[in-house]
Amino acid sequence: MLKVEKLSKRFKDKEVLKDLDLTINEGEVSVIVGRSGEGKTTLLRCINGLEKCDSGDVYINNKAFCTNGNYIEGKDLISVRKELGVVFQNFNLFPHMSILENIIEAPSRVLKISKEKAIEEGENILKSLSLEELKDMYPCSLSGGQKQRVAIGRALAMKPKVICFDEPTSALDPKTTMEVKDIIRDLAKEGIAIMIITHDMEFAKEVSDKIYKLEDGKLKII
Ligand SMILES: Nc1ncnc2c1ncn2[C@@H]1O[C@H](COP(=O)(O)OP(=O)(O)OP(=O)(O)O)[C@@H](O)[C@H]1O
Ligand SMILES: [Mg+2]
Repeated sequence: MLKVEKLSKRFKDKEVLKDLDLTINEGEVSVIVGRSGEGKTTLLRCINGLEKCDSGDVYINNKAFCTNGNYIEGKDLISVRKELGVVFQNFNLFPHMSILENIIEAPSRVLKISKEKAIEEGENILKSLSLEELKDMYPCSLSGGQKQRVAIGRALAMKPKVICFDEPTSALDPKTTMEVKDIIRDLAKEGIAIMIITHDMEFAKEVSDKIYKLEDGKLKII
């Protein structure tokens, strides 16, 4: 479950997010739409700590990640942070690593699981995303849809309870968009809470349980 309470964020004199509340339960897909510049990506960055909010709370799987604008640090950070996966718009794959290496990097380095175990789990994830034949290839030789699936696989390798997507289908054709929709619905069935930022209303309607519009720093259900 993801819970955001009274989150506020300003950049100099521009108040982007104002006492924003959001709860996404396990197995639920919530989509956030809104005009360009309203603060959708800023919200995602405040949720995962890439940007520090000014005030408000963020709970991931019922554990406090941020309390009144203060993000947790030290050893607790990893235990909370690993429960949150983020799939960025530009995928952020490591170009010098093969697809399988991209998938096993974080579980090996952060969770410190053995290489054999990481490879076994990584290969299972690749299979579930129909990517097993690409495991030794490098990101530069993949299509946009394949890169998107690898990026999802990389998030899944940490076994997160919450996954946030920033415009997951912006570079995809309609058929690949619907494949991504199916993958996301399957993740929800497994109990993951999912937040998706998109400009694609048709995709939003297909994939979501709830759609929110971000406007004037707050979310309104539509
Ligand atoms: N690091 C920053 N410093 C200053 N202003 C910023 C910073 N990041 C974002 N902003 C401003 O905050 C506002 C919200 O930006 P954000 O990227 O969150 O919008 P968005 O809703 O994701 O837009 P889009 O749909 O175009 O991706 C914009 O006015 C942007 O210029
Ligand atoms: Mg954005």
